[in-house]
Amino acid sequence: MANIPEHVLSEYERLKDELNQHNHRYYVLDDPAVPDSEYDRQMRLLQDLEQRYPTLLTPDSPSQRVGGVALTAFTQVRHDIAMLSLDNAFSDAELEDFDRRIKDRLNYAAQEQAPEIEFACEPKLDGVAVSLLYLDGLLVRGATRGDGMVGEDITANVRTINSIPLKLVGENIPELLEVRGEIYLPRAGFDALNAKAINAGDKTFVNPRNAAAGSLRQLDSKITASRPLEMCAYSVGQFQAQTKPDTHLAMLSALRNWGFKINQHVEAVVGVADCQDYYSRLAERRDSLAYDIDGIVYKVNDLHLQQRLGFVAKAPRWAIARKFPAQEEMTKLLDVEFQVGRTGAVTPVARLEPVFVGGVTVSNATLHNGDEIKRLGICIGDTVIIRRAGDVIPQVAKVILEKRPANAQPIVFPERCPVCQSSVRRAEGEAVARCSGGLFCGAQIKQAIKHFASRKAMDIDGLGDKLVDLLVDQNVIFSVADLYDLRAEQLVGLERMADKSAANLVAAIESSKQTSLAKFLYALGIREVGEATSQTLANNFGSLEAVAAADADQLLEVDDIGPVVARHIVNFFRNPDNVSIIEALRAAGVNWPDIDQNAQVSQPLKGQTWVLTGGMEMLSRAEAKDRLQALGAKVAGSVSAKTSQVVAGPGAGSKLAKAQSLDIPVMDEAEFLLFLNNTE
Ligand code: IVH
Repeated sequence: MANIPEHVLSEYERLKDELNQHNHRYYVLDDPAVPDSEYDRQMRLLQDLEQRYPTLLTPDSPSQRVGGVALTAFTQVRHDIAMLSLDNAFSDAELEDFDRRIKDRLNYAAQEQAPEIEFACEPKLDGVAVSLLYLDGLLVRGATRGDGMVGEDITANVRTINSIPLKLVGENIPELLEVRGEIYLPRAGFDALNAKAINAGDKTFVNPRNAAAGSLRQLDSKITASRPLEMCAYSVGQFQAQTKPDTHLAMLSALRNWGFKINQHVEAVVGVADCQDYYSRLAERRDSLAYDIDGIVYKVNDLHLQQRLGFVAKAPRWAIARKFPAQEEMTKLLDVEFQVGRTGAVTPVARLEPVFVGGVTVSNATLHNGDEIKRLGICIGDTVIIRRAGDVIPQVAKVILEKRPANAQPIVFPERCPVCQSSVRRAEGEAVARCSGGLFCGAQIKQAIKHFASRKAMDIDGLGDKLVDLLVDQNVIFSVADLYDLRAEQLVGLERMADKSAANLVAAIESSKQTSLAKFLYALGIREVGEATSQTLANNFGSLEAVAAADADQLLEVDDIGPVVARHIVNFFRNPDNVSIIEALRAAGVNWPDIDQNAQVSQPLKGQTWVLTGGMEMLSRAEAKDRLQALGAKVAGSVSAKTSQVVAGPGAGSKLAKAQSLDIPVMDEAEFLLFLNNTE
């Protein structure tokens, strides 16, 4: 590098260091120090320098994370220290056996007052094991486990993973360090990858582990770079250093200081009873984690004891895995039923031979729509893999074609509504097929009434789903407007309807007449007009007449209303059936105060989208939502890149995880209350 000026060299080193640090803060500590724009600016400076002085470029440059020239094959790597696997314990008793075997081996029986063993407890991450070799602090090789003795060289691919340090940081960097850990794909990344595959008509991955493995097997590291993989370190292989830690946890903490991501749920406990307790605690949190885990790994924490215990065959004596219930199981598709929703959407539902998966017994799974049936290539009688992970509904992940029976039946999407026999139509560009029966369709009428009566709509207490089904099936009511003509005598005599409950229901219907414009708009069940949009419409138009009279252009002027929603609103109010139902409702006495638009308070959260998740102790969910909407915020049900803020209470699940993975700010209930008090 003789011809490169000194100041360029030092500037290059400075940029590399700084970018590596930003990267570490962002991907390992989840605590970015600078905005993305600043990171991008520095990256461009670095890339400029590398272009002008190509000899500068070193493999630890953060610019190398984007992937490089594709390989033609992976070369083999021999592991100097074998990468072992773990024995499994399938019950409390087997874990106790493990503890006893350790004590026997250490001859504790001969000792008076032998201590309980201290165990490091860790989630068993469901990904792909990796070995990373560092010489004098620089990443020189990444390898898969392979058969434990020989793996494949995936250095180019591991360099693209942002939570893997290209260069170690901190003190006492060892001359030689082989770090082992798990590369995995968080659930949000997995969902996004599969959504992209579905859009492109490609095959989807069954689970995040397969997706991670597939991403690492790419000869073209640019593909790997496009997958949001993460890596957590959980042990070391080869290790040459001045001093070595005494415990597994101290080792993990050294790894953390050198720049590795360590799973945040790692903890040390004493004795096997506390291991069981850790198992229950983590089992409870499993669904809410941002990534899949398939169990717990217990490791003797004392590294000297580990050495004394040694190995048997392919697994250490000092560690064991305790598995959680599987998140994927095989079962049979017995039948497919087609359900009709409020807006007429005809949804195929898989009826399955009941199977225990992800901790619950599953006997139904949605097949979403006709495209999904085609994509899966599924037939009745097929053996399928059901996946249930996190708090999402069970999915059919794959059909096992090898197991298809000779009498498998293709699934025929109905051309007529299974409830009212009207034709089923599918609009251009839409995946969903709909019954065209509208208010002639019993299923749509029932759903419309249930929605109308629901808590966030007209809030009619005592009008449950079963009762609505009965009232419609027995031709007592035909539309939401008929509710207001119901008399107690008509109700008494219906299944499980006593005098008292009939009178209560009539009273509840009566008191629902007093409502708000937003709730009424929501109750109408206009397609894609949820609570937040209803509130926005009420705020912007002030009266039902104004909303009903608005054309698409006027609607489009309102923030957050796009062309699709605008079209649904216009169509709804153009439909004479809907108009007459609204008239009947008003004639029956349903009313609300109009909103004086001039008196509107300032809306400091206008343009923001908030998501509430988990439990709340001081406020009800509905109240929290009302207060946010009053401040102009939109309150959404799911987290996306557009979410401004998440409020997460105890038990928050995948929404919190997704917010964290997207780096969306999160506050707890106490912070939220403080915020409301300061803002309102
Ligand atoms: S320790 C000798 N710790 O489980 C001990 N393994 O069957 C080697 N795994 O191939 C592994 N999370 O890929 C260890 N916290 C953890 C782990 C973990 C996931 C995987 C690993 C290994 C397999 C063992």
